Amino acid sequence: MGKDSLSVTDNRTGKTYEIPIQDGTIPAMDLRRIKVDDDDFGLMSYDSAYLNTASCRSTITYIDGDHGILEYRGYPIEQLAEQSTFLEVAYLLLYGELPTQDQLDRWVYDITHHTMVHENLRIFLDGFRYDAHPMGILISTVAALSTFYPEARNVNDWDSVELQTQRLVAKMPTISAFAYRHAMGLPYIYPDNDLSYPGNFVNMMFKMTELKYKPNPILERALDILFILHADHEQNCSTSTMRMVGSSLPDPYVAVAAAAAALYGPRHGGANEAVVRMLTEIGDVKNIPEFIDSVKQGQRRLMGFGHRVYKNYDPRARIVKETAHEVFEVTGRNPLLDIALELETIALDDEYFVSRKLYPNVDFYSGIIYQALGLPTTMFTVMFAIPRTVGWMAQWREMLREPGNRIARPRQIYEGATTRDYVPMADRG
Ligand code: ACO
Repeated sequence: MGKDSLSVTDNRTGKTYEIPIQDGTIPAMDLRRIKVDDDDFGLMSYDSAYLNTASCRSTITYIDGDHGILEYRGYPIEQLAEQSTFLEVAYLLLYGELPTQDQLDRWVYDITHHTMVHENLRIFLDGFRYDAHPMGILISTVAALSTFYPEARNVNDWDSVELQTQRLVAKMPTISAFAYRHAMGLPYIYPDNDLSYPGNFVNMMFKMTELKYKPNPILERALDILFILHADHEQNCSTSTMRMVGSSLPDPYVAVAAAAAALYGPRHGGANEAVVRMLTEIGDVKNIPEFIDSVKQGQRRLMGFGHRVYKNYDPRARIVKETAHEVFEVTGRNPLLDIALELETIALDDEYFVSRKLYPNVDFYSGIIYQALGLPTTMFTVMFAIPRTVGWMAQWREMLREPGNRIARPRQIYEGATTRDYVPMADRG
């Protein structure tokens, strides 16, 4: 019996099977050998929310949730947030190595020169109601890009894959800013090639009548850091959606739209919006104990707390908290910060949260920064989707290059009616 294996005895038959253990996992298909008789389909594993199922092999992002570690291609997130730029990190995630100066210059040039969108897309955006949620606009508009670039469907043409990657990374800020301007009833602002990736984004968001928009360097850097922190997070709900949809080989625009739709929900990227709503509802530090009680009684969740993977501390939350203080030096203190800080202090000392290993996640402080930057809450998830597009694309490209990749197709446990005959209308009770 090999040491790196699992011996399983099926008590239904008394038979013992040896299943190989590789990289701390067992191949789920090996369970299918376990049968009661020849007609039996074989054993499956049941894991409805993927709590303990590895769905791919990846070399992009490493997380050690118990020790609060997050690394992109082996580089600790803290070092990247401190020393790198978002576009450099994007290159790292997509191509596996930090770029040389020449590679970075070329990459920045390419992204900068793909930021414009087709004029028909602008007209398409005008069709949305004035109060449409920007995430709804973003998801639909990214999907619509698919119709502008029909060659993107050929996902086996790697030159095309490269071009669509650049287009998506470049155009997400433009579409996002247009979604915001549409909601505000403001004219769209076209990209400015003289500005950095985050600088151009704030230009397209906030430029009014001035001839040239000058982003505040501290806020520009803060935004760049937030983009770095949100760029990838291995196989979360939206990334798994990207891989799942991508596995049927559609073009990347519709796959990114699907991933963005997964991000939209309050359990995922919608959490930062929910945090600000929650802090606003609490309203005052004196109301916190009553709020905490209602959370402990299971009436509601403390938004921005808890994570499927991090059971120690979300390392991104620590960096966002520091960034928040830098931003408030420029914008003035967001009064919600006091409520957030006090909530964190109380929760980290409370048995309910401690025993369940619930700590602030990346979204606990990001929302109050976005609010201080003047963004409406409906834009918060959009701010997540922009950088996460890089992660989605890196994971999608990795999936495409995986030898023998196949369409993703989970199994089910059928619990419905057994075979029965059709009942004519007159006989139905
Ligand atoms: N507030 C209060 N209790 C919580 C919270 C919370 N935020 N999160 C988890 N719990 C409790 C659960 O009630 C449960 O308690 P129980 O064992 O007594 O039933 C226990 O902790 C485990 O919770 P699960 O829901 O099983 O944890 P899971 O890993 O499935 O969920 C999730 C993780 C969705 C992030 C959850 O913690 C949550 O809803 N948090 C709030 C939303 C949020 O901030 N999401 C952002 C995640 S980060 C991101 O997407 C970028």
